Amino acid sequence: MTGETHLSGEEQVIHAAERHLSSGSVTHDGYAALLEQYRKLARQTEKLVRISDRQQEQLNRVNEELAEKNSILADREAHLVKLVDEKTQKIERITIALVNALEDANLLNDADTGNHIKRVSKYSAVIARAYGCAPEYVRKIELYASLHDIGKVGIPDEILKKRGSFEDDEFERMKQHVLIGFRMLDSEDLDAMAKNIVRYHHEKWDGTGYIEGLAGETIPLEARIVALADVYDALTSRRAYKPAYCEKETEDIIRAGAGKHFDPAIVDVFFTRIESIIAIRDEYT
Ligand SMILES: [Fe+2]
Repeated sequence: MTGETHLSGEEQVIHAAERHLSSGSVTHDGYAALLEQYRKLARQTEKLVRISDRQQEQLNRVNEELAEKNSILADREAHLVKLVDEKTQKIERITIALVNALEDANLLNDADTGNHIKRVSKYSAVIARAYGCAPEYVRKIELYASLHDIGKVGIPDEILKKRGSFEDDEFERMKQHVLIGFRMLDSEDLDAMAKNIVRYHHEKWDGTGYIEGLAGETIPLEARIVALADVYDALTSRRAYKPAYCEKETEDIIRAGAGKHFDPAIVDVFFTRIESIIAIRDEYT
């Protein structure tokens, strides 16, 4: 590294020119021309620096304007999110009111099912929570599980309220309640969970259920959960055609049904919450 490295541009030019001058390789005129050339370059550099400063100022102004516009957009977005939230909540309130109205219609049709509907909804929520479902899912399953047998409004009383077991043709007719209910709810505006519960809550894990004969995880999760909640409640309740089973008998039947009637993973989580389930049963019986 030479001493010239620490010299300014002008000093380097002068220094180089003086060396050439003293060595005789450049004339005084050449020296003056070199200096003039340097000054010209210096003026151009200054001009470029001024242009660059102006461009930087313009860039700063553009950035400030962009920041301001982003802030306005963020405010508008927050406003829109608030509006959507309010609308969503309103739709949810309307949905809940309609579900409650349908539930009431179901109660009028079959007085025995009143607490059954409440218990199945609450059992389903407990199972879904224990299974690790998101709070929104748990909230929805509690709401829509109450509709699982809504299609029974389309089943004649002589079958629906029959004491004793069904004849084959009566059972075939009874099975139709899932399709009747599904058709009642078959609107693209209605949450798919409600339709899945109504249509598939009598499917069985091993594929021997109705109405499609679906098996395993092809049965929507919500329908698998409600299936277990529904059967547990049916077993522990007195019906026109049977007495209530005790807790022990019921639990044995549920355990034996794991992997056959029920999703075994759901049976497992169900038993981790059996105390909550029994507490609900006691409260709503
Ligand atoms: Fe049903």
